[in-house]
Amino acid sequence: MRILLFSGKGGVGKTSLAAATGVRLAQLGYKTLVMSVDPAHSLADCFDLKSSLFDASTADPQEIAPNLSIHEVNIQQEIKRHWREIAGYITSILKTSGLNHVEAEEMAIFPGMEELSAMMYVNQWRKEQRFDVIVLDCAPTAESLRFVSMPTTLDWYMKHIFPMQRGILKAVRPLANRISPVDLPADSYFANVKDLYNKIEGIDTLMEDPQTTSVRLVTNPEKMVVRETQRAFVYFSLHGLTVDGIIVNRVLPDEVRDGWFGEWRESQQHFLGEVEAYFAPVPVCRVPLQQREVVGLERITALANLLYQEGGDPAAVTRTERPYTFTRTADHWEVRLNAPFAGKGEIGLFKKGDELVVTVGTVRRHIGLPTSMAGLSPVRARLDGGTLVVEMKEAA
Ligand SMILES: Nc1ncnc2c1ncn2[C@@H]1O[C@H](COP(=O)(O)OP(=O)(O)OP(=O)(O)O)[C@@H](O)[C@H]1O
Ligand SMILES: [Mg+2]
Repeated sequence: MRILLFSGKGGVGKTSLAAATGVRLAQLGYKTLVMSVDPAHSLADCFDLKSSLFDASTADPQEIAPNLSIHEVNIQQEIKRHWREIAGYITSILKTSGLNHVEAEEMAIFPGMEELSAMMYVNQWRKEQRFDVIVLDCAPTAESLRFVSMPTTLDWYMKHIFPMQRGILKAVRPLANRISPVDLPADSYFANVKDLYNKIEGIDTLMEDPQTTSVRLVTNPEKMVVRETQRAFVYFSLHGLTVDGIIVNRVLPDEVRDGWFGEWRESQQHFLGEVEAYFAPVPVCRVPLQQREVVGLERITALANLLYQEGGDPAAVTRTERPYTFTRTADHWEVRLNAPFAGKGEIGLFKKGDELVVTVGTVRRHIGLPTSMAGLSPVRARLDGGTLVVEMKEAA
């Protein structure tokens, strides 16, 4: 199975290009699912499904053309299906703080639930082999990162916090329930957390395997968008995901000769050049600005024909280089992390237990070290042409 993630700044064209990719894949005969991980869903609108504004029929995969299904993860449904105990417990706490039931229920939807639910589905379909390719239409960059970091975050919680909370609670519950105004979580709460955890098990390996998962960053030829794309590139690398394509959308076509657009044309040319230079050797492709909104199967298909050459296969694996690697040299081990665009002062590094913790800007990643390296400590780090090289040695 292949997983293709479309991410990028708000409004750059992620949904349209994810939809176009789905259409092409389906034409090529892949059983394809385009799945929206953005709580502000717009996939059904993009395909111009004649559904009502708040229709929930796509809360499960819905086939909309041969080989092509779409799915918009619906958090209300997911709470009923997977989060009953957890949300129930949080709701009960919030109610004690004076919120009414509906308010408490709404606040019990916490960040990450949607992303986690989506991830559980991806894992389920992999196990059931229901689709050949899953195209993930992500929310803008920040939330996309929350999506990809979810397995490590949860893993960390399960390893460090979960056993502790559970142990302490077992000991104090009989007493605490008598004196505390808030009920402590019941065992079923922990069972629910554990169950969710089991449902995403293995997904992190899948996301970090470039043979399975690729990130395609969508951008526009404008300064602010390009800068965010550069940051996104580093953040995805930090999370172990391979970016194998940059798509520059909304490029003014040559036919537009109107003087009013003169300056736009010039600045677009400038940023197109920068994008190609920045991201090499990652392939960059361009998609022209269309004459109208990309809505409905016909226009999405037209967009797919601009995005991919005739017969071009969006599922082809073109980059297998992992964003970070562990290598052994003559007298030490090295962790090498692909971090172009990052300056020296922006990178932080420390060891915690058997994990190397790397921060770049505002994003932090716990990198689990292989057993053979777990006892080593970082002794030196350097930036080597866009690669962060951390030397690890046994503590003297
Ligand atoms: N190449 C293009 N030419 C013309 N219009 C486009 C092009 N690409 C996308 N659009 C239009 O731009 C609007 C935003 O596109 P889209 O919804 O795909 O962006 P998005 O990145 O998914 O946005 P969001 O961050 O809100 O999810 C839509 O109306 C879409 O039809
Ligand atoms: Mg979108």
